[in-house]
Amino acid sequence: MNRTTMGFIYTGMAYLMVGVGLGLYISIDSSARILVPVHAHVNLVGFVMFTIFGISYHILPRFRGRPLYSEGMAWLQFWAANVSLAGFLVFTATKLYWGVGSDLRAVFAALLALSFVLFVYNMGRTMIQVPPQQH
Ligand code: HEM
Ligand code: HEM
Repeated sequence: MNRTTMGFIYTGMAYLMVGVGLGLYISIDSSARILVPVHAHVNLVGFVMFTIFGISYHILPRFRGRPLYSEGMAWLQFWAANVSLAGFLVFTATKLYWGVGSDLRAVFAALLALSFVLFVYNMGRTMIQVPPQQH
């Protein structure tokens, strides 16, 4: 497994633990219910999407029988997704609690969306790549 797959699997597991912890906290203390959007994205983006990204990078090129279009782009996507998700979560929390940070949240949201686009582009180019000429 390459570093992008390992990175997404490990960070996905870490986010699952954070998300489950936050879910338990919300269950116990109902005043923490304001953090439900944070809980939702920690779990759905941090665990579900990151795990899908990690497994996809490993398995889809193999299903297709071709190397991934760009390993560098995959590694860039890993970092863009991690930095932007962390920023998005922090500024979602500050927005919900204190009503500040909306603009910064929007910047991180855009970067997160861009990281998703990088995944789709890289995977798309992998799947539709023209096979090398047979000699
Ligand atoms: C032990 C694990 C978990 C606990 C204790 C937990 C707990 C909670 C609680 C208390 C809420 C707020 C419900 C409410 O008052 O409206 C909630 C909402 C939510 N949780 Fe979890 N959760 C857990 C795991 C997960 C996982 C693994 C996911 C996704 C893969 C997830 C996705 C969501 C979503 C999307 C919402 C928002 C639902 C909505 O839009 O109303 N949760 N969770
Ligand atoms: C670029 C990626 C994403 C961005 C920027 C984004 C942004 C947002 C925002 C701003 C909200 C409203 C939260 C609020 O009330 O403040 C929201 C809600 C929600 N999003 Fe996302 N999202 C993204 C990806 C996803 C993905 C991939 C999923 C599911 C797999 C998801 C599931 C949800 C759910 C379930 C809610 C409702 C949460 C609740 O009940 O409070 N989002 N999202």
